[in-house]
Amino acid sequence: MIVTTSLEPTPETLRHAEELARRFDLPLVARKDDSLTALRKRYEETEILIVSSNGARLEAVGKQPFFFHPNTAAFRIKRLERGDNDTMLAVCQIQPGDEVLDATMGLGADAIVFAHGVGKTGRVVGIESEKTIAWLVEDGLRYWSTESEALREAMQRVHVLAGDHAEILKSLPTDSFDVVYFDPMFEETVHSSAGIAGIREWANSRSLSPEAIAEALRVARRRVVLKEGKTGVLYQKFGFTPYRARGNQVVYSYKEKGGGE
Ligand SMILES: C[S@@+](CC[C@H](N)C(=O)[O-])C[C@H]1O[C@@H](n2cnc3c(N)ncnc32)[C@H](O)[C@@H]1O
Repeated sequence: MIVTTSLEPTPETLRHAEELARRFDLPLVARKDDSLTALRKRYEETEILIVSSNGARLEAVGKQPFFFHPNTAAFRIKRLERGDNDTMLAVCQIQPGDEVLDATMGLGADAIVFAHGVGKTGRVVGIESEKTIAWLVEDGLRYWSTESEALREAMQRVHVLAGDHAEILKSLPTDSFDVVYFDPMFEETVHSSAGIAGIREWANSRSLSPEAIAEALRVARRRVVLKEGKTGVLYQKFGFTPYRARGNQVVYSYKEKGGGE
């Protein structure tokens, strides 16, 4: 993978591209007047990360372009600011000051909503196994431009870890987060959020492992929460209690620390 800029980059775009290349240890190449096809040929690379004033976008041959966007987080935070509830925050019993580990971060929409819910005194860590997604989301959380102060502040509070959640969970102390949350890729292609379609080609679609659930129950102080499609059966497999919210395309379920409901 190489990093370049849009044609005629501004000094700010150039600085962003330099930072991204340095942070993720990727080669930075000057765009000049070259087309992406010409750059691919010259550097023998199929994946090009292009930085423009709109942020970073990954272009790979035969795949949809991939870029960060806050997805459902924008309107969910707006609704929370109006005093509405958010089902995910309710299932997780989120309070200001909570510490949340989002073990399947993806585009980070849920992590951003958690960060809004836990507020300035809380902590949200997102784990993503796919380096490309982790990098672009970590970068996007810093660079996405929005007029919503609440959204910007929440994005800035999400801390990203790239790696497999089972491995990272193993390395964490017992009772170190209030909630551990899983939203694995749905097995069927239908997903309530069209925004997630953008990461399908890049995402890890392996099923959730019993080891990861066991480690999550060790690391969580309060509960482990699972989100799946309405036809999902993981909650039964792992003995979770479904949380019923009317009319939803998704089913949340939870398991309390200690095995109770
Ligand atoms: C459905 S998406 C999560 C969407 C996310 N909740 C959001 O709001 O954007 C699932 C993500 O989990 C990642 N994933 C799957 N298995 C993982 C694992 N073992 N460790 C870390 N991340 C994993 C996938 O690559 C994918 O990006």
